[in-house]
Amino acid sequence: MGDANVDGKCKMMSACSSAKLFLFMVPLVVVSGFLFVNPTSFLTSLSTNQISPPLPSYPSLPPAAPSPSPPTSSLSTNAESIQGNYNRTIQLNPTNIASTSSNVTSTASLKLMKKRVISNLEKIEFELQKARVAIKAASMNDPLDDPDYAPLGPMYWNAKAFHRSYLEMEKQFKIFVYKEGEPPLFQDGPCKSIYSMEGNFIYEMETNTRFRTNNPEKAHAFYLPLSVVKMVRYVYERDSHDFSPIRKTVRDYIDLVGDKYPYWNRSIGADHFILSCHDWGPEASFSHPHLGQNSIRALCNANTSERFKPRKDVSIPEINLLTGSLKGLVGGPSPSSRPILAFFAGGVHGPVRPVLLQHWENKDSDIRVHKYLPKGTSYSDMMRNSKFCICPSGYEVASPRIVEALYSGCVPVLINSGYVPPFSDVLNWASFSVIVSVEDIPNLKTILTSISPRQYLRMYRRVLKVRRHFEVNSPAKRFDVFHMILHSIWVRRLNVRIREV
Ligand SMILES: *[C@@H]1O[C@H](CO)[C@@H](O)[C@H](O)[C@H]1NC(C)=O
Ligand SMILES: *[C@@H]1O[C@H](CO)[C@@H](O)[C@H](O)[C@H]1NC(C)=O
Ligand SMILES: *[C@@H]1O[C@H](CO)[C@@H](O)[C@H](O)[C@H]1NC(C)=O
Ligand SMILES: *[C@@H]1O[C@H](CO)[C@@H](O)[C@H](O)[C@H]1NC(C)=O
Repeated sequence: MGDANVDGKCKMMSACSSAKLFLFMVPLVVVSGFLFVNPTSFLTSLSTNQISPPLPSYPSLPPAAPSPSPPTSSLSTNAESIQGNYNRTIQLNPTNIASTSSNVTSTASLKLMKKRVISNLEKIEFELQKARVAIKAASMNDPLDDPDYAPLGPMYWNAKAFHRSYLEMEKQFKIFVYKEGEPPLFQDGPCKSIYSMEGNFIYEMETNTRFRTNNPEKAHAFYLPLSVVKMVRYVYERDSHDFSPIRKTVRDYIDLVGDKYPYWNRSIGADHFILSCHDWGPEASFSHPHLGQNSIRALCNANTSERFKPRKDVSIPEINLLTGSLKGLVGGPSPSSRPILAFFAGGVHGPVRPVLLQHWENKDSDIRVHKYLPKGTSYSDMMRNSKFCICPSGYEVASPRIVEALYSGCVPVLINSGYVPPFSDVLNWASFSVIVSVEDIPNLKTILTSISPRQYLRMYRRVLKVRRHFEVNSPAKRFDVFHMILHSIWVRRLNVRIREV
């Protein structure tokens, strides 16, 4: 579980948390069975949430990127299965953004609405509706200027819609962070280790003023700042396989904020979100049925076989920060100085790696697959000297190798099943990575060598461009990983519509 590092603090300000380790454990609210909202009322309130139906891709957009032209039948089957995966995600195509249903506020003008007393929620929904319309129109308009970065190219499903959506997010997205709960279980998280995103996100939310509001009446989304990594560390009894203390902590927390504020009940959690990088994030989220089913769950462990729902949930990258900083992690030579075709080294765990090792360990000098790094070589040097970096799932579907590959300019080869890669709502992974099914592992070399040098170069250049979306900055910078996570949450929020009942 790699929890040796979970106490690495993000920045000075969370340092105070270490002093209070056990002071807070959610008050032991006696829960006498959670009251399920009966199915009809649940449906009524959630249908006002207008989850947009799956729609065909926007005609002007290529459904899949000009990825390696499929020379072998195995590869084209693979492309189909990728397409199948994406059907289940909210691609950021205008047609996929929930558009107005005639019954909703957009038909009313704000002026008209002002004549009667309109609630804060109605105002919020009205502004969100304006954003939906703007995003929908974006792909017809000229590309937007941007002083920092203007998304462009086949790495994006729809660069213009993404850009507009991003700007709309900057203009209005406000998040309320619940203040209940003290560190270490809440308001705190690891900033080093493969689970670093938990701590980094909490820290950024704490310090970032742009996307945060202290007035819950003005909020579009509500953040439940709990860290599953810290719960595993502090309330789970090691090796006990008894998940109930974690379950109880999560449930009590939801009950606490649900009792104290009207917002949880109002949407039955649909405008609330959690973020977790721990393998047990999904499991923890199902401690409370509505948290798992309704809330936006930003997870590293985005396994569709474990009820990850791309339409509602957010896949976030697993980023292994050993020092808490990006220093020296980003960069690498050009393709001509990368003598190795493909590289992997790592432990044999999970369902995919044994297959990879069985077929490729010490079998081929072009495909360097190792359990242990060869003596005298460094992991990052190997990545920098390789054209492709193999990123198979381990214990769980996500792998920090994906981001390491992007950082070092190595085109990632994703091997997993049921994994929704990070930011798939915006990014077309097939344009800058190679997606190989577990069944195709024996064909790995054929697949990689059939990618022409020209096509490789295109993918390599795209890797260098999308990498900014995976970079961790402190303070966060526009279009970096923090903002991409927020943007994915923003899109999920756009896909629901909430009404007071
Ligand atoms: C995905 O969408 C395409 C086009 O909309 C469709 O042809 C295909 O059958 C879908 N695949 C799955 C698995 O739903
Ligand atoms: C929209 O309004 C019409 C007429 O008022 C009603 O019949 C219909 O059920 C409503 N649809 C939704 C989704 O609320
Ligand atoms: C929300 O619903 C729960 C369960 O029905 C209830 O116990 C709680 O008091 C409600 N919260 C508010 C603020 O009304
Ligand atoms: C994804 O979830 C399924 C169902 O629990 C599990 O069998 C599979 O091993 C998971 N994938 C990985 C890579 O852990």
